[in-house]
Amino acid sequence: MKIHILTLFSDMFTGPFSESIIKRAIDRGLVTIAIYNIRDYTSDKHHVVDDSPYGGGPGMVLKPEPLFAAVEAIRGEAELPVILLTPQGRLFNQRAAEELSHYEEMILICGHYEGVDERVREHLVTDEISIGDYILSGGELAAMVVVDALVRQLPGALGSEESVEEDSHATGLLEYPQYTRPQSFRGWEVPEVLLSGNHAAIARWRREQSLRRTIKRRPDLLERAALSDEERRVIKRMEREED
Ligand code: ADE
Repeated sequence: MKIHILTLFSDMFTGPFSESIIKRAIDRGLVTIAIYNIRDYTSDKHHVVDDSPYGGGPGMVLKPEPLFAAVEAIRGEAELPVILLTPQGRLFNQRAAEELSHYEEMILICGHYEGVDERVREHLVTDEISIGDYILSGGELAAMVVVDALVRQLPGALGSEESVEEDSHATGLLEYPQYTRPQSFRGWEVPEVLLSGNHAAIARWRREQSLRRTIKRRPDLLERAALSDEERRVIKRMEREED
């Protein structure tokens, strides 16, 4: 996978991309991440990237020319998805992450200030993504979130001890509770079943815990989760217990 990121603040990416799973994926050649400073694609003497909005109002708007120049320089003749990170985009979730992970190459644009010139949206960008209903100072943190969620799905990105399948949301449910040593901590015990060595019983317990947790915390997820008829019946019963 190759991810191109257009930003005004390229240094922001240094830390997050040089640690942990993303770093390992880069080192293993699973992903190439190229960061471009939008300012480098200006053609005026002062390298101006933004200007005040037509019609008045506060703040500054990102100018179209440097963004078009940067995207065109990167993609050449290729047709690449061009994704703008913006609070106005469609909400990012695990499903969107899986969808995007099928692209071999993409361009992410980190918006800033009061936004980008609308012609960028209309004629350059192919998709707009928001990572949540709150306003960040820019698209950089959002781009890092998207990159992280994509990269961890690439085959070979996770070590054998880590797993995408069991992640919260990957199953459509929240993850079950996890415990590690010590077995007794300040008098709080690890649930018996996890010590039993009975793998079927453990799997059953975990599935039930996932269901309980999801019902309690994120009932909205249940509609789209892959559940058996039996599980749907159990949920109905649990929901009645809650009332
Ligand atoms: N830029 C500012 N806020 C954002 C958000 N919530 N998601 C994506 N990009 C953003």
